[in-house]
Amino acid sequence: MEIAVTGATGFVGSHLSARLLAGGNRIITLVRDPPARAMGRLARALHATGAPREVLTSLPQTVLPVQVCLDRPRLGLEGAAFKRLADRLGTIWHCAGLVGLDTDPSQLQRANVQGTRQVLALAAAGVHRPHVVHVSTAYVAGARRHGLVGEDDLDASHGFLTAYEESKYRAEKAVHEWVLEAADRRVTILRPSVLVTDRPLPPRAPRHPHAVLGARLNLTARRGAAFGRRFGLHPIGDGHHTLRMPGHVDAALNILPIEYATDAMVRLVRPQDAGVRTFHVVHPTNTPVATLMDAMHEMVPWLHLHLTEQRFDPSPAELYVETLSAGVSRYGGLRRRYARGALDAADDHHGIAPPAPLSGDYLLATLRGGLTSARAVPAATSP
Ligand SMILES: NC(=O)c1ccc[n+]([C@@H]2O[C@H](COP(=O)([O-])OP(=O)(O)OC[C@H]3O[C@@H](n4cnc5c(N)ncnc54)[C@H](OP(=O)(O)O)[C@@H]3O)[C@@H](O)[C@H]2O)c1
Repeated sequence: MEIAVTGATGFVGSHLSARLLAGGNRIITLVRDPPARAMGRLARALHATGAPREVLTSLPQTVLPVQVCLDRPRLGLEGAAFKRLADRLGTIWHCAGLVGLDTDPSQLQRANVQGTRQVLALAAAGVHRPHVVHVSTAYVAGARRHGLVGEDDLDASHGFLTAYEESKYRAEKAVHEWVLEAADRRVTILRPSVLVTDRPLPPRAPRHPHAVLGARLNLTARRGAAFGRRFGLHPIGDGHHTLRMPGHVDAALNILPIEYATDAMVRLVRPQDAGVRTFHVVHPTNTPVATLMDAMHEMVPWLHLHLTEQRFDPSPAELYVETLSAGVSRYGGLRRRYARGALDAADDHHGIAPPAPLSGDYLLATLRGGLTSARAVPAATSP
């Protein structure tokens, strides 16, 4: 029986594929590009993960790309081809999805909810009743601010901070409904938090959320004085600007290195009985938003951001900075924690030490990781 992976050309899927291939597995990648192009992109993405040379050189023997349309009936395949594919599979890792926080909701619904339903249909068609591993997100907890989020919690009552979160919540709901329809269906839902790496990323490698944020901050840093002029700001004292961001001084985000996360995912997915099991793949210690903002300040030294709970009448410059840092500003009010009992037990069992709290230097490296040498500016200009 074989392993299929969706989203292998993406940030999470490429790290996971690297881990599966390094473990001696062969994989079938379900990709939307034509196979030759998808293989080229996968090779680049795997290289960016630091995959060993043997993994990269043996790709023609270990990876079979199959072109699919995730959100079409039978994944866009002709009936017999769909059944042949389904019958080969013992496990399906479903990592594909749209991750833009503010992507149009109908596109998110198509890719994240419809796409998940089609992957589940593939599993239902398979003679071996493949085990589905559905990569969700810890952020299905939505707008909930406080308390401990349990691994079985799936509750829309707090509302959602982004359309992305809501689409991932709906995808999990679709998984639960599907499992109830037949007695032999098995799904493991994995809910990672924000996944990042401090590895420098080659130009066309998949980006993680901090790499995207870091590239935007870098552009802002380069604008220097033009930023102040555009928004009619008057620098204070030594040429600095101070702007407010909505949030709480004690806000904290859960951010996890992808290298630990993908190992953890593989540790957590074990043969299981029918039904759904859900695991948080999270850091044991939340990172204070203030620590992340200090790292952001290093990227744009002339810009001071400070969190404030009561911010009336945001200025155009403040609204602009919010669009730059969508994730951080949306989540600036969160103080919730995530249960990680299953991962604690799996780490214990394998003698793995949980990751240390993330330092400011590590966070800065994650922000700088997506800057290619041509685009990076060594020191941000002052206005
Ligand atoms: N990155 C994080 O911090 C994070 C944290 C928690 C959960 N997750 C979850 O992890 C999964 C992957 O995220 P990521 O960060 O790796 O995103 P990513 O780098 O943008 O990769 C997304 C992958 O999904 C594929 N894809 C998207 N829409 C598709 C469609 N309609 N049909 C076929 N393939 C499609 C992409 O294919 P192409 O390469 O062809 O575009 C790509 O391989 C998502 O489900 C996300 O919710 C991510």
